[in-house]
Amino acid sequence: MTTTHRRCVCPGSYDPVTMGHVDVITRAATLYDEVIVAVLHNSAKRGTFGVDERLKLLHTALATLSNVRIEAFSGQLLVDICREAGAQAIVKGLRGGTDLAYELPMAQMNRHLSGVETVFLPGDPRFGHVSSSLIKEVAALGGDITGLVPEGVRAALQSRTGNPKGI
Ligand code: PNS
Repeated sequence: MTTTHRRCVCPGSYDPVTMGHVDVITRAATLYDEVIVAVLHNSAKRGTFGVDERLKLLHTALATLSNVRIEAFSGQLLVDICREAGAQAIVKGLRGGTDLAYELPMAQMNRHLSGVETVFLPGDPRFGHVSSSLIKEVAALGGDITGLVPEGVRAALQSRTGNPKGI
């Protein structure tokens, strides 16, 4: 019997990582031998969090997952990242129809370019309303984001604003 090391890539901006991301990555880690969390960033744009801080927040949030590797990439096609990593699949979460409409052409393009498959996991309804951009908006305007982001992210947002709720 031959055994194959099954690897997938979970790509994203992770600016910052949310509990929705953590849920999808945790589930991917049960389906694959190894998960590469690929932080894709634009080197010309800083984003809200710099890439080093995004990586640090991800490392803390995913510390208990022994088969997860976290790496940053810039200026590369996702399919090339997958090929170089030896990954057979891209894993993404879908919160609903809007996500599907956004993700489907990317999945089809990636399959067209290299044959790599995209595996969609249904998002946990507890996090259906959670996105990095909404988290930042709610936090900036004084809302409570507890439980929607890892504790380190809440603390990082809090230290930027001085608001104890993570704002
Ligand atoms: O967290 P995000 O911002 O929704 O992540 C989007 C991301 C980075 C996964 C997406 O923009 C992407 O896959 N970029 C890679 C660039 C690429 O390969 N584009 C062409 C094929 S679709």
